[in-house]
Amino acid sequence: MPQITSIHAKEILDSRGIPTIETALVVDGTKTVTSSVPSGTSTGKYEVVELRDGDPTRYEGQGVLKAVANVNDIIAPKLIGKDPTHQTDVDQLMVDLDGTQNKSNLGANAILSVSQAACKAAAVSYNLPLYAYLHAKYQLTKDAPLMPTPTFNVINGGKHGAGNLDFQEFHIIPSTRMNYSQALQVGVEIYHKIEKVLVKHGAIHSVGVEGGFAPNLYKNADALELILEAVRETHYKYGEDVFLGLDVAASNFYKNGKYQIKDRKDPFSTKEFIEYYKALNEQYRLYTLEDPLHEDDWKGWSDLTQELGGTTVVIGDDLLTTNKERATRGINEKSCTGILAKPNQIGTVSQAVEVITLCKQAGWQIIVSHRSGETNDDFIADFAVGVGAHYAKFGAPARGERVAKYNRLLEIELELIENSKQQKQA
Ligand code: PGA
Ligand code: ZN
Repeated sequence: MPQITSIHAKEILDSRGIPTIETALVVDGTKTVTSSVPSGTSTGKYEVVELRDGDPTRYEGQGVLKAVANVNDIIAPKLIGKDPTHQTDVDQLMVDLDGTQNKSNLGANAILSVSQAACKAAAVSYNLPLYAYLHAKYQLTKDAPLMPTPTFNVINGGKHGAGNLDFQEFHIIPSTRMNYSQALQVGVEIYHKIEKVLVKHGAIHSVGVEGGFAPNLYKNADALELILEAVRETHYKYGEDVFLGLDVAASNFYKNGKYQIKDRKDPFSTKEFIEYYKALNEQYRLYTLEDPLHEDDWKGWSDLTQELGGTTVVIGDDLLTTNKERATRGINEKSCTGILAKPNQIGTVSQAVEVITLCKQAGWQIIVSHRSGETNDDFIADFAVGVGAHYAKFGAPARGERVAKYNRLLEIELELIENSKQQKQA
């Protein structure tokens, strides 16, 4: 049985220049893996707690030295000698050590860095690539692992963009008929055309935190027009080769029970906002619609899904926060038809897999997602394939920390093609 020999954490920076935690784990005295954790900018209210130092003399209070010390001084001594392939036991031990519901004691960032490192170590000790190990362990897809369809965040607004858009993310989603490398090419080519269209219109084409452009526009819907204009300048057909999606992140502009966006002077009630989405969907055929309503507007979510869920994947991110209780409620109340799964919203690999399993059983679409604050760790790419996600959301196809994931998927796709050739020959 493989054994954890040592665990050591340190503070590093994420893609926003904000500290995060990286943990190195040695298994059987010789094999070392490292894993670092991402961090959100528009963090949901029900996510587990990311422990930050709050020391104003370092990184404006954002340092993670306490979380680092929690790994090195509290978690590590308890895990030395344990078997990293027993992911649930490893994770449960940390959950118990922490002793809170929201992991605020040791910090979900501390816990997840170890959980992910243990997962990588387990794959290494079986001599398997991480995605293959996860696929074999959890068996969430039949037969061979499947590649997810990438969904590209090409325009950044809300808390993610320096421009003036209320909606956080405007996505292009290549057809699920394409293989991954074709889909990546479509995403990249349209992304570059969007830049040209913005230049042509004299609009700002700087980028937001996830590498998507962050223009100033008159209305949120104008961003969709812009994307369509860019698609028309390629040989791809909208509605056939490529589709549109939104992550509205509506909790960020919900004030006094209403939704206030620049498209209309008066704020929208939930009912009016659902009508707005219906009209938007008629015009643009929204393929995915994430966080269209506030994270506590449960009734609104069920109503919206009743109206749009037949044709659009309605995705719960801040609503569900990869949390078993909230996902169960979402399934019971038919709040959505898909979940955005982010391991750092819940703080351990095994809990994230548990929620994904539950949502898969309910027939939901699984979208495995990065965070706005990322590192070059590509854990999430293997995780997406390993748990059989339908979609992978890793930001724009630009910026090192985003393309690290998209490039890892390219590698995995090549490996899967090679494996299937060998199987046919055998
Ligand atoms: P976040 O954004 O990482 O800033 O939370 C991603 C999302 O809302 O999907
Ligand atoms: Zn989101």
